[in-house]
Amino acid sequence: MSQPFRIGIAGLGTVGTGVIKVIQKNGDLLALRAGRPIEIVCVTAQSKSKKRGVDIGGYRWIDDIPAMADVDGLDAIVEVIGGSDGPAKALIEKALKKGIHVVTANKALLAHHGQQLSQMAEDSGAGLAYEAAVAGCIPIIKAVRESFTANRISAVYGILNGTCNYILTTMRETGCAFGDVLSEAQAKGYAEADPSFDIEGIDAGHKLSLLAANAFGTVPNFGAVEMTGIKDIQPIDIAFAGELGFKIKLLGIAKFDGKQLVQTVEPCLVPGQSPLGSIEDVYNAVFVEGDFFETPLLTGRGAGEGPTASAVVADIIDLARGHKIPAFGIPAARLKVPEYIDSSNIVARYYLRLSVLDEPGVIADLSAILRDLNISIESMIQRGRDPGQPVPVVLMTHKARFADIQEACARIDKLRTSIEPPRAIRVEQDL
Ligand code: HSE
Repeated sequence: MSQPFRIGIAGLGTVGTGVIKVIQKNGDLLALRAGRPIEIVCVTAQSKSKKRGVDIGGYRWIDDIPAMADVDGLDAIVEVIGGSDGPAKALIEKALKKGIHVVTANKALLAHHGQQLSQMAEDSGAGLAYEAAVAGCIPIIKAVRESFTANRISAVYGILNGTCNYILTTMRETGCAFGDVLSEAQAKGYAEADPSFDIEGIDAGHKLSLLAANAFGTVPNFGAVEMTGIKDIQPIDIAFAGELGFKIKLLGIAKFDGKQLVQTVEPCLVPGQSPLGSIEDVYNAVFVEGDFFETPLLTGRGAGEGPTASAVVADIIDLARGHKIPAFGIPAARLKVPEYIDSSNIVARYYLRLSVLDEPGVIADLSAILRDLNISIESMIQRGRDPGQPVPVVLMTHKARFADIQEACARIDKLRTSIEPPRAIRVEQDL
């Protein structure tokens, strides 16, 4: 048998312990596939004493996380600590400088420092692999970087956060409010104790910036992703969307025309019967549009011990086989800086929900505002009759510029008869 592929694992949370379980259980199979045994040499984490449900007694414990890169003879370090800076970054930089391969699930780190880390890896000849950073067990990084390479890719989009998809699915099924469903998701262990990265769209934004970089050959730029989370989505919006044949999904969407790039994460209405509309619970799904293929939809579990560990171990096997390519598919120095376009330029249909007093002339005032901004109404729902009291009015527009929709909302909000700020949600009907 060939020399073992010797690894250190930094981070022993859900993913790190999952990786150990996979290697302990499937070691023979992994050795066959990698052409050499995968040997865990050392481990490190914030706390040595914590109970973890795996036996780490046979591995050397490293107290100081970045010092793992000083262990003699390591082929690769698996970093599953997380965080865009701090010990994870210190360890990875040290390892890459020494030519030690790195496998990581750390989307935040790569979304912020991807080009620089890719350059470090190229300079020393190390591999930098991160399939587990995006959409758990879905091999989407490999697909975009290695399988769709014949194509100029014009769009990559999808459901990139399992926690948000679970919350939106459950809100629709139960009619419960966002806060209640979030608490339940936390109790089930789907949402973190601090859920802000998930529910504010930041986690999806990290993933989208990595997908865009691989798809378009552009610099990963998390700072250029516009993000709107799901905490303002109300059961009434989900119910109206359903009545109109739509579901609300948090979508990450990146579109590139060869020059201009737009990257957004925001709740959108998608047709309930569409491929994306049928992705529920904690599942993720990603679409890619190229010039020579249809739009394959890849779907699977985007989080959790098994799916994420599975992606990490697949990267370890690739590196043990000697398979390594630039982190974003092309040399780091050749990654383009595109012209970034903000969402005010997006042209789409919009769902508008207003809360207005039920009295004569209200609809005429709304229509005048929309007419003045050249926004055409496709359909309108007004339910109930409660003179002098607020009633919801839902408008579906024809295609309009988001900047005009925002201006319309601002003008409507100033009407005496408008009781709550209007709510605008983009309709993505062709996905
Ligand atoms: N918290 C993420 C999700 C998984 O809910 O999809 C890790 O990125």
